[in-house]
Order: sequence, then structure tokens, then C-alpha cells
Amino acid sequence: MRRVPELGLGFRDAENYKRKENKELFERIFLRTPELGRLCEPSSFFLIGEKGTGKTAYAVFLANAEYKNNVATLRYIRETDYQKFVSLKRTKNLTLSDYVSIWKVIIYLLLAEQIREKERRNPLFKGFLKFDKLSGVIDQYYQHAFSPEIQHAIQFAEEAAVTAGLIAAGLGASDKISISSSESKFQINLLYIENHFEDALRSLKLAQSHILFIDGIDIRPQSVGYDTYLECIKGLGNAVWSVNNDFFAGIKGSKGRMRVVLLVRPDIFNALGLQNQNSKVRDNSVILNWTTTYPEYRRSPIFLMADQLLAYQQDVGNPAPGSVWDYYFPYDAKNVRTAVQSPSSFITFLRYSLYRPRDILTMLSIQKENFIEEGRDASGVFRYEDFTTPAFTRKYSDYLLGEVRDHISFYYDLNDYEKVLKFFQFLDGRSRFSYTQYLKAFTRYVGFMKRNSMPIPTFCDTPDNFLQFLYDLNIICSKVDSTNSGSRFFGWCYRERSPSNIAPKVRLGVDYEVHYGLMKALDLGKHFLVDESTLDCER
Ligand SMILES: Nc1ncnc2c1ncn2[C@@H]1O[C@H](COP(=O)(O)OP(=O)(O)OP(=O)(O)O)[C@@H](O)[C@H]1O
Ligand SMILES: [Mg+2]
Repeated sequence: MRRVPELGLGFRDAENYKRKENKELFERIFLRTPELGRLCEPSSFFLIGEKGTGKTAYAVFLANAEYKNNVATLRYIRETDYQKFVSLKRTKNLTLSDYVSIWKVIIYLLLAEQIREKERRNPLFKGFLKFDKLSGVIDQYYQHAFSPEIQHAIQFAEEAAVTAGLIAAGLGASDKISISSSESKFQINLLYIENHFEDALRSLKLAQSHILFIDGIDIRPQSVGYDTYLECIKGLGNAVWSVNNDFFAGIKGSKGRMRVVLLVRPDIFNALGLQNQNSKVRDNSVILNWTTTYPEYRRSPIFLMADQLLAYQQDVGNPAPGSVWDYYFPYDAKNVRTAVQSPSSFITFLRYSLYRPRDILTMLSIQKENFIEEGRDASGVFRYEDFTTPAFTRKYSDYLLGEVRDHISFYYDLNDYEKVLKFFQFLDGRSRFSYTQYLKAFTRYVGFMKRNSMPIPTFCDTPDNFLQFLYDLNIICSKVDSTNSGSRFFGWCYRERSPSNIAPKVRLGVDYEVHYGLMKALDLGKHFLVDESTLDCER
């Protein structure tokens, strides 16, 4: 087996696997879960998952190589793209429907470019007159130098008067319109462009299916206000729905299909406010959910993902599932009631995690880093104490808090994040508390902000809203005793979320507990001796 200091543990963010030198590695470590198959179905338009659950990973995997007759590309929306929208909104007075139209043009243009690029060497791909003419227009507009990034595609829509004119001339279109640069015609020009793209795309007979993934809507750049941002991504959400459902789904006679898939966090999907949201989640989304139970964990994808990462790099061919994990982590988790045959060390990883691949990968890389920093015998393996050293606790809770900060940044400014953390000082060191204790802490917290003339953030407008906010962030869970079975029920947002309940509500009036991995960072747990042996979170 490889020695610990030499273990390769991959990257925490899957964006890195887009790079040429990492593609082969990713091909070997990527776990093909049933979600991958679902993502390849023509009805999947949204890929929904909490932070670090693998949204980018699934898209990168499909973009890196052809898979089951699907070819894909992944495009990111960057900060500068949003700024472009902000200035467009100012100059052209955009409404939601303008945003939808602009996004449709961007989607069509990027997909057309993808098809051109991927089918270039395919001898059967020819003779589609309308598409060829449109390609000519794209080349003419970009002077043969179109780089298929959203940033450049926006320009095509922004200069709708020019591009619609080029299309009219290039296609010798019989439906010539009076192309005008006046703002009032902006929408009409966009519609004209849209129609011609649809004609051209409809005329294609594709052998393979083409998927365009759009990523990067979950982090709002601080330079763009929340309302403007939301409006822009609402336009995108509606455009994704509309091109897939109203246009691509209706194309007949082509074996290969076209599709655009939006990568989105569940709370943001909820904020998009799409019509008939529930049925869109059920019928047109793939939800990434890695939860498992302690008795089941050995067969769970999250365990197999970690085991595969360790196993691929060993010299021994085809080790038995779990065996490489057991070699590196040959100890038992504490306080596990379920009988387990193999070392149950992975349960400790689960306890510290929110059941997200990134959490597990981060724990592994921190423990490896500490192993090296401590100068341990390189032929040794990991041990239970690797979780209890201050170096681990500090680094890991910094990571978890970083994820919380990113999550919040979508809605609020960075100083609001500091305010959220302040609340925990009013719990007097408690990591477990009742509703009454919570209300008292909340009153003191708001009193503190008022006394210090700090503006009260909107998430603090009522105690129950703030409780819901902490629950949405997976900082706290609710805890209910079951009188019948004598067991306890732990209500975590990430566990309670389901296709039929995309935005679960926190239970009021019960007991609560702060996530185990965050206690140290929030300076909690003093009222109880909190180590793993006091945990009763059997799942
Ligand atoms: N099926 C899988 N097999 C192997 N590794 C995976 C799988 N799914 C996710 N991962 C790994 O988990 C990590 C986090 O995934 P990723 O970066 O895709 O999360 P994300 O949902 O895009 O998060 P964010 O919302 O922060 O962008 C990556 O290192 C990725 O390689
Ligand atoms: Mg991502």
C-alpha cells in the first residue's frame, strides 16, 4: 500500500478536473452513481445539490469525455458577466422577459458552437444549410475568433440590432424585419435572433446528444446587489426551462437531442420561483443526496467514493471494496450501537460531515497534512486521535465555516456573516439547547445589536426566522425524543430535503443541537463534555 505522505487525495473543488492533466485521474476516481444515469435522461434540466455534493463533478465528468452517446460542455458565469448584465439593465431598462430572451440567445449560441466544435470531424455531419449559414454569421460577427464563453455570448445578444442585421443578410431571410437600434426594438431583435437559431437547430440531425451545463450561479459577487442578481438568474432559470421544454423537447427526427442543464443549490432553486416548482423538481431535476445510515454505510456511495479514491492508486489490482479504507483507518468509531464487522472508522467521518463528498475529502487531506506536519513514521496509518487534535478541529471547522460563509454570501454581505457568528456567544457555551433557551439567547443577541446601533439583518426579523436560517445553513438540527421507541430523532435540513419538500421547515418548540464539526469554531460545548462518546446520534 502507498504510504500516507504519498497518498493522492484529489481536489476539493471539481473545477480542477477540467484541466487536461487531471482528466485521467478523475476518470478513475469518479464514482458512477445512479444520478449520472438520470442526468443523461432527456427530461433532466436542473442538477440540484447542496455545496460540495458534486454538481460540478458530474458536469465535468460528462464534459471530459463522451459518455453513453452524450457529449457535453460546461460553462461558468463569472463576476464580469453579471456586471455586464447590471450595465445592460441600466442602459436598456431590462425586464424579466428581456433577461429570459437574452439568456435564450446565449444558450442557443453556446450550444450551436458546441455542436460545431464537437461534430467538426464527423463526416456525417453536413448539409444542414440553415445551420451552416448561421455558423457563417457567427464567424462573421466574431471574425472567426468566437471563444465560447458566456462573456462573449452576452455581447451577441447585447448588440442585437447588429447581429439580427447580420442574420437577415447572411440567411437571405425572407422575413426581413426593420432592424432598429432603438431600445424599444431590442426585444423584437432578440426574438428575431432566437427564431433563426431555433430554425437552424431544428434542422439538425444529430447522432449524439449534446448537453450544455451552466455553473456558477451560487456565489453572488459582492459588487452586484441581491435584487439585480436574483432577477438575472431568474431569467436564466426561466430560459433553461423554456428552451428545454418548449423547444428542444419538441424537435422530431433527430436521434441525438439537445439540452441545457443548470447547476444549482436547492435554496437558490427555491429562490428562482419557477412556476409549478414542485413538479419541476420531481420530473425535471436530478438531486444529489449522499445521506446514508450507520447500519448501511458500507454499501453507501459516499463510502465507496472515499474507498475508491484510496484504492485506485494502489499497486494491488482490484482490492475488495472497503479493504483499502480499512487498511488506512483500522479503528472503530465510538458509541456505535449498530453491530459492524469491519472497522467502523468511517462513521466518525460521517459524524463530522454533512454527508457531502467535499467534507470527507477535506477531512482526509487535513489528516494527511497533519500526519506529515507531526513527522509521523511514514509507514504508519491513521488513528482515531487524528480527529481530536486541535490542529484537526481548527482546520476542519475553518473549512466548514468557509462553506457557511459562501452559502450566506448569496443573500447577504460579508459583515452579516460576522453577525451570524456573534449569536453563538449568547448561548453561553451551550451546543445543545431548548427552544426557551434559544429565545432568551435571541433576545439578548438582538438587544446587543440595538445597543450598539448595528442594523438588524433581515434574517433576524423574528426569532423563528433566525432559527429557520440556522437550520437552512445546517448549523443546527432539531432533536425530538420518540416516546414509543425511546430513540431520538435528529432533524437536519439536508436530510429532510426531498423532491417533495425542497425547502423543509424547522420544528419549533423542541430541542436543538449545533453541528458537531462547528462546535469548536463557535466556541461551544463547554456545558457538556462533548466528544464522540457523548454523541447519541445513531442514524
Ligand atoms: N461521484 C463522485 N465521485 C468522486 N468524487 C466526487 C463525486 N461527486 C463529487 N465528488 C468530489 O466531491 C468534491 C466536491 O464536488 P463539487 O466541487 O462538484 O461540488 P459542488 O456541488 O459543485 O459544490 P459547490 O456548490 O461549492 O460548487 C470534488 O472534489 C469532487 O471531485
Ligand atoms: Mg461547483
